[in-house]
Amino acid sequence: MKFFIDSADIEEIKHAAKMGWVDGVTTNPSLVAKSGKDFKTLITEICEFISGPVSAEVLATDYEGMVKEGDQLSTIAPNVVIKLPLTEDGLRATKYFFDQGVQTNVTLCFSPLQALMAAKAGATMVSPFVGRLDDVGTAGMGMVSEIRQIFDNYGYETEILAASLRHPMHVLDAALIGADIGTLPFKTLAQLVKHPLTDRGLEQFIKDGQNLKV
Ligand code: G3P
Repeated sequence: MKFFIDSADIEEIKHAAKMGWVDGVTTNPSLVAKSGKDFKTLITEICEFISGPVSAEVLATDYEGMVKEGDQLSTIAPNVVIKLPLTEDGLRATKYFFDQGVQTNVTLCFSPLQALMAAKAGATMVSPFVGRLDDVGTAGMGMVSEIRQIFDNYGYETEILAASLRHPMHVLDAALIGADIGTLPFKTLAQLVKHPLTDRGLEQFIKDGQNLKV
């Protein structure tokens, strides 16, 4: 399973990359706004040290605007992935970028049928938002499982990028279902490493190791 870091914070992306946890990066307008940085400068900086896919989201909501912004963003680096909303215009733009050989991430997916339409438009990745469906009382992971089944039924190559993953159980379930990628905030990536029995066991080994004759 590939992990992307869902962040626009250069320092935490660098830290996670050094740990070997990161196969790519996803950003969104809310994360970029929080970083306080200029959007294109930020994506350029990330691409200087991340060679995997880096998703950069368009702000336009109409087809022409999305194509214009996406064309500009794709000149930043070859690993920039154009992130487009799951709307009619977004899917039309997805088809445009597919024809140009440019990678796309279709975002804000909240149903298996929306994911199917993204795959038909030629999306490289589709992002079902698990946590946000959970927030409204619908099982987000059920959606991921149904997308997996549909894509496998027909051999769609669009990768399932499980998004809005907020805690380790989300990651475990997405991995068991077979989501191709999970995008996680830094905090959740770090939580995956932790186990209290590891800490307790290490403490005991250190203590016992002090009594060894060397
Ligand atoms: O990047 C999109 C997604 O992962 C957002 O997560 O927690 O804001 O629903 P969240």
